Amino acid sequence: MRPTIRDVARLARCSIATVSLVLNNKDVSIPQSTIERIWKAANELNYRPNKLAVGMITKRTKMLGLVIPDNSNAFFGDLAKAIETAARKNDYNLILCDSDNNGQRDLEYISILSDRQVDGVIFVRSEGNQQDDRKIIQIADQNGIPLVTVDRTMHGEKVYSITLDNFRGGYLAAQHLISLGHKRIGCYSGPLELNSSHQRLDGVKEALAEAGIPYDESLLFVGEYKLGRENEALAYFLDKKVTAVFAFNDMMAFGLYVSAMQMNISIPQDLSVVGFDDIFFCKLVSPQLTTVRQPVSDMGVCVVETLIRIMNGNNDGQPAIRKFEPELIVRSSTAPPKKN
Ligand code: RIB
Repeated sequence: MRPTIRDVARLARCSIATVSLVLNNKDVSIPQSTIERIWKAANELNYRPNKLAVGMITKRTKMLGLVIPDNSNAFFGDLAKAIETAARKNDYNLILCDSDNNGQRDLEYISILSDRQVDGVIFVRSEGNQQDDRKIIQIADQNGIPLVTVDRTMHGEKVYSITLDNFRGGYLAAQHLISLGHKRIGCYSGPLELNSSHQRLDGVKEALAEAGIPYDESLLFVGEYKLGRENEALAYFLDKKVTAVFAFNDMMAFGLYVSAMQMNISIPQDLSVVGFDDIFFCKLVSPQLTTVRQPVSDMGVCVVETLIRIMNGNNDGQPAIRKFEPELIVRSSTAPPKKN
């Protein structure tokens, strides 16, 4: 039977209120001898506060929920790690949910986390639609659970979001390739319904326009932010006679590497490749991948601190959307186009 605060009070011969004050380190004038007797009793009984019971009194469970679309992608793994570290530093535990990039799972997890009475939710949406976003906000609101998004913003919903300047990220990738002399640049995007995709594409268009290069819609191949369609994508781009491909995340760039090897295409001699995220594999592949870095750890810390401020009712005056800056990391997968 799990020892209760009542058992500790009985063994220490004092009231439950005194035990609670001592074990919660409340700064009140209690004799040192009593404090020592209480800690001794708690240790002897191996007493651990029942978080749910504490939660019913303080209305806090000190649990946060995190929903991400794909834990097998190191970008989300790094993000989850940064969030977990920041949560623990603020005395919160984390329930991690992987929605497998499935909008229906998003809804299920938000309901499950609400039932578990988490104090707040950090949410990275899957591909979905405005109706799904609206339902997710409704579930959180109905349960009085603050929700913030990170990385991907939600359609038209007024929620606090920590994201990246994806437009700038796409611009940097394209500008780098243009500066090398590339004019026919393939875009291997993620689902365009996501802000992290369509804003990157808008950045590419801006860089092309600045260079006086017309944007060619036929050089766009929409992917899924994961491995699986690289053979189809590379064949498509080669048929379009591109000299470079900007993959909107590193996982898809790595897929192009595998396909290029199978098709005897050498990177960067025959084809330059740029990725996005700067996950740690970028330095392990050969040639090392030129990519656009997301400050994923800073974003993780920021979203936890934002959520805690919201839960404590003091996030007023903060911007609804906080954008972090991307950084171009030039490595060895890009070079001037081959002279024909
Ligand atoms: O790698 C997954 C991609 O989807 C990242 O670029 C991130 O921004 C997310 O939106």
